[in-house]
Amino acid sequence: MKNPTILEARGLSKHFEVKDGFFSRETKTVRAVNDLNFEISKGETLALVGESGCGKTTTTRLLLRLQNPTQGVINFEGKDVHSLTGADLKRFRSRVQAVFQDPWSSINPRVRIRDFVAEPLIVNETLTSGEVDRRVHEALDAVGLGPAHARKYPHEFSGGQRQRIAIASAIVTRPDLVILDEPVSGLDVSIRSQIINLLKDMQQEYGISYILVAHDLATTRYLADKVAVMYLGSIIETGDTDQIFDHPRHPYTEALLSAALPSSPTEKNREIVLKGEIPSPLSPPDGCPFHPRCPKVVGNICSTAFPQLAAETPQVQVGCHIYK
Ligand SMILES: Nc1ncnc2c1ncn2[C@@H]1O[C@H](COP(=O)(O)OP(=O)(O)OP(=O)(O)O)[C@@H](O)[C@H]1O
Ligand SMILES: [Mg+2]
Repeated sequence: MKNPTILEARGLSKHFEVKDGFFSRETKTVRAVNDLNFEISKGETLALVGESGCGKTTTTRLLLRLQNPTQGVINFEGKDVHSLTGADLKRFRSRVQAVFQDPWSSINPRVRIRDFVAEPLIVNETLTSGEVDRRVHEALDAVGLGPAHARKYPHEFSGGQRQRIAIASAIVTRPDLVILDEPVSGLDVSIRSQIINLLKDMQQEYGISYILVAHDLATTRYLADKVAVMYLGSIIETGDTDQIFDHPRHPYTEALLSAALPSSPTEKNREIVLKGEIPSPLSPPDGCPFHPRCPKVVGNICSTAFPQLAAETPQVQVGCHIYK
């Protein structure tokens, strides 16, 4: 039986009004995220992939209530995240946590690790100081750090240890969902696989769901059960990770994956080089957002009609006119 859905996005869009130049009073609209639909089940990892600027971080910020959607809803345990108040909001803030690429950029260097890790507990739950200590030690233990580290200060740690501490702080409330935006990008390659394995082990042990944003597609493939491939703010292909990596259907997914794979002498794995640049989300093209760069345009329809996602297999949905 399928695990219960814990979070879903329906028709989610975020548009930013920006000034049209320094001296101008006119504004223009940046369409950062357009009509996203996805859901995530208990214990599952959904990865958002796509080139820089396609809307991944904006999506995670909407999920975390750091920004309000222009349209659409996000439901967590069946309740609209952006309408939560009081006890429901407190519960959401404790159940949903995040780990970013550089969680230390905002940390106070005079705060002890114990207090940094404990913060989500102290803000969202009512516990005695002894209980907080116990939970901090438990979280540090889960990320492979002993309780003695709790008394230390940030500068005493290496990059990999710091990311472990950030993860400890994200799991200290025993959350249901952790949002990971580039969790290993700032780390040395030698440390990355340790952190990735740690995330995977913790998921198996605690049944946490993850929403993962990672440029590194090898990391994505290893951690994610499902992927959503984004281009200019829209999901253009989504579904089961193995099916999409083994058999990408959208020409953009094909190009994205071919560029990430190690070069191979076989024709099949040859890198597909796309023409042109990603268009600006200030003036996205009509029709399919990918059509100006697509090597497989099938006709006028590509420049006139937006291709809605449609099921290609029971596990994969694709938004491309080739498949209509
Ligand atoms: N506050 C904002 N005001 C105006 N435009 C914004 C704002 N935040 C994001 N954008 C724009 O929205 C688009 C999506 O940005 P976002 O940061 O979500 O992309 P991303 O997929 O996370 O990229 P990266 O891989 O580089 O992190 C970009 O064009 C960005 O410039
Ligand atoms: Mg980002």
